[in-house]
Amino acid sequence: MSSVAAFQDLTDNLPDWVEAYRAYAAEGRVATYIPELAHAPQQALGITLHHKSGAVISAGDAGMPFTLQSISKVFTLLLALMDRGEKAVFEKVGMEPTGDVFNSMLKLELVQPGKPFNPLINAGAIVISSLIRGDSPEHKAERIVRFIRELAGDEGPSINEHVYRSEAETANRNRSLAYFLKDNKVLDEEVEPTLDVYFRQCAIEVTCAQVARMGLVLANDGADPFTGRELIPKRYVRIAKSFMVTCGMYNASGEFAIQVGIPAKSGVAGGILALVPGELGIGIIGPALNDKGNSTAGVHLLRLLSERYDWSMF
Ligand code: DON
Repeated sequence: MSSVAAFQDLTDNLPDWVEAYRAYAAEGRVATYIPELAHAPQQALGITLHHKSGAVISAGDAGMPFTLQSISKVFTLLLALMDRGEKAVFEKVGMEPTGDVFNSMLKLELVQPGKPFNPLINAGAIVISSLIRGDSPEHKAERIVRFIRELAGDEGPSINEHVYRSEAETANRNRSLAYFLKDNKVLDEEVEPTLDVYFRQCAIEVTCAQVARMGLVLANDGADPFTGRELIPKRYVRIAKSFMVTCGMYNASGEFAIQVGIPAKSGVAGGILALVPGELGIGIIGPALNDKGNSTAGVHLLRLLSERYDWSMF
């Protein structure tokens, strides 16, 4: 199906599909371990698709703001690669999926020197946050926000202070990971300032339209789809997309590759950033999560769309 015909078909059907797929939220639960996230509406489901032609389609609760959470890890990885280069980044994190939950400590003790397996699990993302250049945690976070705004083509994304504080006050698991990494000499910076950057990046608030636009830049190999200007070197986008396929949906990444087959990254607020290479970017919000921490209705909706439009890369 040509993309023009697909967009007409989407325009005709997307609102109905979103309404029908809200029912899947009943299979999941809104995250509560970050107290501020517990207020999210269980039944919400929204999506925006942004095609390289400029066409944008939204449905459902696409206008509902949500925090990036783990989706931010893709963008801090990109910024760290741009700040430090590939060699320095991969001295600190590996390139392999873990098969474990996103905040697991398990594998840090199984290998020496306890280097996180990849940059998209919490341990890896915390190390990546320590590599972002800046004079202070605030300055580093500000650089991350500016990068997100540039890719979103929108000055809207900002840190949600309530979510930031809520996580900072309760993050015993992430603190444990960071102290463990520090003890193993994988984390060179101080623990608390590093975690401060990490909590701020996770609390950047966005909408589906902003996430779809960010996805479109990745789908376009790092170039602004409308001006052609290089925002991210293509090589680094390729690295990020590879991690999205192998680790983006955590220990459900294999199943997602089979059922949907496109690069994607989820966050615990219920967001998903996905993209069809060379074609379009997608932003989804559905706060009810499945047992792997991915938006349950969001994953079902992506599967429907991928099957209907034959999006799988494989
Ligand atoms: O560090 C955390 O636990 C959260 N700020 C982010 C985790 C997350 O989004 C996992 N995604 N499904």
